[in-house]
Amino acid sequence: MNILIIGSGGREHALGWKIKQSHKVNKLLFAPGNAGTSELGENIQLNISDFAQVKNTIIDNNVDMVLVGPEVPLVEGISDYLSEQSETSSIPVIGPIKAGALLEGSKDFAKAFMSKYQIPTARYQTFTTGQTNEAKSFLKTLEAPYVLKADGLAAGKGVLIINDFDEAVSELDQMLNGKFGDASRKVVIEEFLSGVELSVFVLTDGKNYKILPEAKDYKRIGEGDTGLNTGGMGAISPVPFANQAFMQKVEESVIKPTIKGLNSEGINYKGFIFIGLINVNGEPFVIEYNVRMGDPETEAVMLRIKSDFVDLLEGVANNNLDKKTLEFDQRSAVTVMLVSGGYPGDYEKGKTINGIEKVHNSIVFHAGTTSDNGKVLTSGGRVLAVSSYGSTMNEALQTSYQNADNIHFDGCYFRRDLGFDL
Ligand code: AMP
Ligand code: GLY
Repeated sequence: MNILIIGSGGREHALGWKIKQSHKVNKLLFAPGNAGTSELGENIQLNISDFAQVKNTIIDNNVDMVLVGPEVPLVEGISDYLSEQSETSSIPVIGPIKAGALLEGSKDFAKAFMSKYQIPTARYQTFTTGQTNEAKSFLKTLEAPYVLKADGLAAGKGVLIINDFDEAVSELDQMLNGKFGDASRKVVIEEFLSGVELSVFVLTDGKNYKILPEAKDYKRIGEGDTGLNTGGMGAISPVPFANQAFMQKVEESVIKPTIKGLNSEGINYKGFIFIGLINVNGEPFVIEYNVRMGDPETEAVMLRIKSDFVDLLEGVANNNLDKKTLEFDQRSAVTVMLVSGGYPGDYEKGKTINGIEKVHNSIVFHAGTTSDNGKVLTSGGRVLAVSSYGSTMNEALQTSYQNADNIHFDGCYFRRDLGFDL
């Protein structure tokens, strides 16, 4: 089979690494990919929001399956587009149609969906431009901190958690008046939930589903979970508190009603559902849905899947995921993200990366890298994800840290305290 992976980050490199292990794969293509993915397959430069270009790439390369990594093309309707074109209508796309992608593309849709199907989540109300006063009244019924969420995609910046009431009202007013463009002309205000977060990943063919290994990511730039939010500084899997009893609750109270709800809404969802959960005194509550795999969680989760991943993806394509086996690697897996100095604020690109060849017993997934005349250069805030196995989480972390110490580029930074809270 020829498989095209859309995207360019560590998530896509990790998905490609796992997919490449399958004997079913002939050609692996990445669009646009990065320096790491070019070692696994062929990178094709294109604009992933230009669906006609994607279609031509599929035709020119005899692609048999497309896997969409990031949310933006899904929310923009790439799966719908490809299924509507005569040349690509029979080619399976792993990634939901637009109606399903609304679970991530509209917080209001996601909250209404959870209410309708009685999926545990924080109490909320949605307000639109001109409703600042009504929104203020609702805020008064909540306790600090206040959680404000732009309805639409805002590149990970659309959620504000604010301690002070007056500041919350002022931010809310700015959001409703376009602080995040159209994405925040509708704002979800919800109750703050306190607990430890967890990422649960479900692969579904629309009816059947498999629960992939869970993970926990570390979003803050600084050790001890301090400082600004990032795209993710590392991840670990498994998560100790996600024991069988807890995961049973997640399956019964969240996963089953989610799949059932999608069916009731007439949404034939094929792809990944990433459920961002918070453990509130042993009970799972949904913080958010994403319609893709997590990054950097994927760079740990893929290590824990023993089964042929392409076989599972074929199960999604052929509506027989229930006939497929999903076996986990029982070891711990972790990933440590090496980032550019200054990230998540301003940072420089184009720094030469040295020492990747010195890495032993870790797998280095590339996130923001590019190749230049045989050299690998930084090209993003998150640069490399150093992933390792261990018989325990700490053993796996030590392996990643030791290898991360061998990799050098100007300004390289990583956290050394992952798992500190578990
Ligand atoms: P989201 O984009 O919805 O994942 O929100 C970003 C982050 O904000 C989450 O990962 C949580 O850490 C935090 N968050 C969102 N909603 C809540 C909530 N209701 N209570 C507490 N923290 C939240
Ligand atoms: N790691 C969180 C995300 O991918 O959204």
